This record gives sequence, C-alpha cells and structure tokens, in this order.
Amino acid sequence: MLPAYVPNNAAVLAGGGRPIDGGRTWGERRVLGDGKTWRGTAVGTLVGVGLALGLNAVNDPISAAVGFQLPTFPLPAAVGLAFGAMVGDIGASFIKRRSGRERGAAFPGLDQLDFVVGALLLAFAFAADWALSTFTPGVLAVILIITPLLHVGTNIIAFKIGAKDEPW
Ligand code: CTP
Ligand code: MG
Repeated sequence: MLPAYVPNNAAVLAGGGRPIDGGRTWGERRVLGDGKTWRGTAVGTLVGVGLALGLNAVNDPISAAVGFQLPTFPLPAAVGLAFGAMVGDIGASFIKRRSGRERGAAFPGLDQLDFVVGALLLAFAFAADWALSTFTPGVLAVILIITPLLHVGTNIIAFKIGAKDEPW
C-alpha cells in the first residue's frame, strides 16, 4: 500500500497553484475547494508511481531479508494505487463541501479511508488480476485496520513539523 500512502503526503508538500475546480461553486459552496490543486494531484501521483517502481527494483533483497515474497507493482497497478489515492481524497473533499464543511474541516472516518478506498478501486479497475491475487480478504482486513492508525499518526507528525495546518 505504500504507493497509495505517499501521494497525499507528497501533495501536502507540493500543493498550491490552480485549484482543480477553478474556483467554481455548486450551490453556495466550492465544488472541491482550494485544497485540491492540479499540481498537488500530479506530483502526488508521480511520487506514488515512482515509489512503486523503486520498490520493484529493491523487491528481491527486501523479500529475502523479510523471508516473505512481497508483491511487485505492474505499471497499471502502480498508477491505480497512486492516482486512486488522490481521486479518493478529491472525492472526499467533494463530499465535505456538499455537507457544508469548509476547507480543512475534519470528517472523521472519511479522512482516514477516502484514499484507501480510491486506491483499491482503481487498482482493481486498472489491474484486476494483480489486485485479486494481491489483496486477499486477510490482506484487505489488515489494510482497513492499519491505515486509519497510520493516517492519524503521520498527520499528527505533519502538523507538529508545520507541514499541515490541521492535525487530520
Ligand atoms: N493538496 C493539493 N492537491 C491535492 C491534495 C492536497 O494541492 N489533490 C495540498 C493542498 O495544499 C492542501 C494540502 O495538500 O491544502 C492538504 O491536503 P488535504 O488535507 O487533503 O486538504 P485540505 O486543505 O484539508 O482541504 P479539504 O478540506 O478539501 O480536504
Ligand atoms: Mg485536510
């Protein structure tokens, strides 16, 4: 899941520039808000895909070291995980704006799982066979339990070092 975890953090560091919604509103509210930018989305996706390819390159020694055959990422799987994480997060902003939450407002549950759901959906869409053999029911269960914990932890760190304005 690392190629799905890193894009949102990369977007925080790279964000800024033109918002995806171009400032447009739907009803009283922004469609997505200034927190979802083209640059953040592009950089986040590229960093996630790059990480997947980097992990492929070191798969043999790491699998040998942990004594367990770790998965490699075919390009469609890497793109699905990385871009899917960004799309899930963008979808969450859409839902937040529709429910009246301003940019940066917390939405417990959604904030912790939006990118996982997006990443898994696009991984299954772009690389179905790979996803079916990689994300077995047991693996999926672990992902859905561990990801929210990791997300809360890394965002508190990002907030403490000043990379994020809120600790979520
Ligand atoms: N970011 C970006 N593009 C994205 C996702 C994130 O540029 N697709 C950057 C923005 O600078 C954003 C920051 O990363 O402010 C933090 O991301 P996030 O917490 O997802 O956005 P919020 O600003 O909190 O906005 P929202 O309420 O819509 O989630
Ligand atoms: Mg936020």
